[in-house]
Amino acid sequence: MKYLRTSALAMACCGLLFTAPAFADKDDDKGDKKEKKSAAAAKPVTPRGLMLANTCVGCHGQGGSSLGPATPTIAGMAVDTFTDAMKAYREGKRPSTVMGRLAKGYTDEDIAEMANYFVAQKFVRVAQKTDPEKVKIGKKLHKDNCEKCHEDNGFKDEDGSSILAGQWLPYLQFQLADFNAKKREMPEKMAKRLNAMVKDGGDKSLDEVAHFYASQQDKKAK
Ligand code: HEC
Ligand code: HEC
Repeated sequence: MKYLRTSALAMACCGLLFTAPAFADKDDDKGDKKEKKSAAAAKPVTPRGLMLANTCVGCHGQGGSSLGPATPTIAGMAVDTFTDAMKAYREGKRPSTVMGRLAKGYTDEDIAEMANYFVAQKFVRVAQKTDPEKVKIGKKLHKDNCEKCHEDNGFKDEDGSSILAGQWLPYLQFQLADFNAKKREMPEKMAKRLNAMVKDGGDKSLDEVAHFYASQQDKKAK
């Protein structure tokens, strides 16, 4: 009812025809995921796409599934997540050890071609050593703070959030440290959750939630 009244008022005062529903600004985490573009679909891989992708597998592993530990698996990412990551590296907007320099060598078309290859690959998870005590605490932290966007225990890459389940532990730890130090950008609502989590549980909560995601190996075993 409150929403109806607000938009009625807005119309009355400004004489505008409001078509955008006032519901849009309700406090829903999902509203703050990556700006909704029409999610790009993968196209068939071209020989050029395959050739370009071949230069990545030395570090990222066959088919984009990395043998670790600080190089992430990039198989199965959504097209938009992959594309945004590459462009952020290229434009120096995302901190990196190697990707910033590397991404500068690729055009938008090259990135699109490589995306078609990597998104079609299966994310192969390698068993990692994780601390069961941290995993347990991390699971709760995930449920309380992160689940809305990193759905299905981090198995899903929805709206640019990337796949966290079974990702390499050191990579996750580095990214979380970068987010926490404000070196890597994140959605405002993720920042709110992450800050609250760290305020409550200290820096160790970052480690705990990283252990939880790294421990996710089998979808059925969650
Ligand atoms: C020399 C090793 C190396 C090579 C070659 C390399 N990468 Fe990377 N990549 C990394 C590392 C390490 C990271 C983590 C960020 C950093 O420190 O640079 C990364 C991160 C990424 C990410 C971010 C993943 C995420 O979850 O957000 C993407 C996407 C990516 N690389 C794509 C590529 C593509 C495409 C190529 C081939 C053109 C490539 N990489 C070649 C080492 C490499
Ligand atoms: C509002 C939605 C949202 C919430 C809530 C959220 N995230 Fe994220 N997360 C994202 C998006 C979007 C990205 C991609 C950021 C980018 O543009 O690089 C991301 C990226 C990440 C990454 C890096 C993935 C990669 O491959 O590099 C990690 C790790 C992560 N989030 C952990 C968390 C944790 C831990 C929490 C809970 C404390 C959390 N997120 C809460 C949306 C969210």
